[in-house]
Amino acid sequence: MTARVALIGAGGHGAWHRRVLQRLADQGRITVAGLCDRAPIVPEPAAPLLGVPVFTDHTELLAETRPDVVVICTPPHTHLPIALDVLAAGADLLLEKPPVMAPDEHEVLAAALRDTGRICQVGFQALGSAALAALCATRPQGPIGVSGAWWRPDGYYTRAPWAGRRTVGGRPVMDGALVNPFAHALMQALVVAGHFQPVRLELERYRSREIETDDTTFLRVTGDDGRTLTVAVTLASAMFIAGEIRVGGAVLEYPTDRLRLPGEPDLREVPGRRGLLENLLEHRGASAVPLLVPLSRTATFTALADAIVSAPPPVAIPARFREPHPDGGGQVVTGIDTIVRQVADSGRLPFEAGVPWAVPPHRVALPV
Ligand SMILES: NC(=O)c1ccc[n+]([C@@H]2O[C@H](COP(=O)([O-])OP(=O)(O)OC[C@H]3O[C@@H](n4cnc5c(N)ncnc54)[C@H](O)[C@@H]3O)[C@@H](O)[C@H]2O)c1
Repeated sequence: MTARVALIGAGGHGAWHRRVLQRLADQGRITVAGLCDRAPIVPEPAAPLLGVPVFTDHTELLAETRPDVVVICTPPHTHLPIALDVLAAGADLLLEKPPVMAPDEHEVLAAALRDTGRICQVGFQALGSAALAALCATRPQGPIGVSGAWWRPDGYYTRAPWAGRRTVGGRPVMDGALVNPFAHALMQALVVAGHFQPVRLELERYRSREIETDDTTFLRVTGDDGRTLTVAVTLASAMFIAGEIRVGGAVLEYPTDRLRLPGEPDLREVPGRRGLLENLLEHRGASAVPLLVPLSRTATFTALADAIVSAPPPVAIPARFREPHPDGGGQVVTGIDTIVRQVADSGRLPFEAGVPWAVPPHRVALPV
C-alpha cells in the first residue's frame, strides 16, 4: 500500500514540498492525504493544491486524514508542538530544519520518538548529496573553513512575521544567517568533521540593516581534540560566493555539489542527491535502508544554533562601511566577500584580523 502523506505549512517553502508530493504521487509512490496552512495557499502551476482536502488546523488534518507520514514546514518555533501531535497521531515525520529551537526541545522530541516508535527525518536535504559523501569517504583531516556570501534584499525580512526576529509576541523564534539560510552549510560541515565534540564557541554576529538577528556571522568552534571549524557567512554581499567547505586540501562547493579532492585540478560536479522524503519512505519499507538525517544526527547543530541565538544581539555595521546594492533593495557591506573568504581560510575571526568594524567575539564554553 502506498503511504498517505500530508503537508503542514503548505505555503512559503511548503510550495517546494508540494512539488515533491506531486512528483511522487504521479509516480504512484504516495497518496497525498491533505494539506494544512493557517493562511490561504496560493496555487502555482508547478506546485498545485493536489486536489486534496485543505485544513487550517493541523489537529483536524491529523484526525480526518490519518496520514502515515507528515511533512512539517511551518516556522521553526512551531515545529515541536506540531511534531508531538503528529507522533501522537501515529505518523512518521519529515521535519524541516532547523528541527527544534534548543537542546531541551531536542530531548523532548527524541523521547517522543522513543515512546511512540515513530521515525523522524530532518529537512537537511544537502545530507543526501553524493558530493558530500565522496568528501567524507576520504576522511579529511585538519581545520575546516566554511564560507558563503549571498545577497538578500530588505524584502527578505518582511516575507514572514518571524524573519529577522529574535522574538514574536514575546516568544522566541529562530532566525539568523547561520541558523537559517546557511544552516545547511553548518550541518554539512559538522558531517564533514565526523566525530567532533565542540567544547568552545567564539562568535561575532553583525547586522547590516534594521533587524534583530544577524545577517553576517562568523563562528569558530573548537572540538575536544583541538580541531577548529570556522564559518564565515553573509547575506549582505554584492559579490556572490556560492559557499565552500575547505578541509585538508579538498573543497566542496556545498550548494552546487561540486567537489575538488586533493590533487585534482578543478571543481567537478558530483551529481546525485537522494531526496529526504524518498529516503524516509524507503526506510519505512525496509529498516536496512538507513535514514539520511535522523534527529540524533542534528543534536550538535541544535546545540550550536541555540548558543548562537542565545548570544548577545548582533552589532550593527556602521553606515560608512556599507553601500547600496547595485540592483537596489538595500545595502551591502563593502568588501564583505573578501573578508568572508579570509576568515574561512585563515580561521582568524574579523576582530583578530583587524577588520575596522569588528568587535571582540562572544566566547562560551559548551557543555560536553
Ligand atoms: N530545507 C530548506 O532548504 C528550507 C528552505 C526554506 C525554509 N525552510 C524551513 O521551512 C520552514 C518554513 O519556512 P518558510 O520560510 O516557508 O516560513 P513561513 O513563515 O513562510 O511559513 C510557512 C507556512 O507555514 C504556515 N504556518 C505557520 N504556522 C502554522 C501552523 N501552526 N499551522 C499550519 N500552518 C502554519 C504559514 O502560513 C506559511 O504559509 C522553516 O522551518 C524554514 O526554516 C527550509
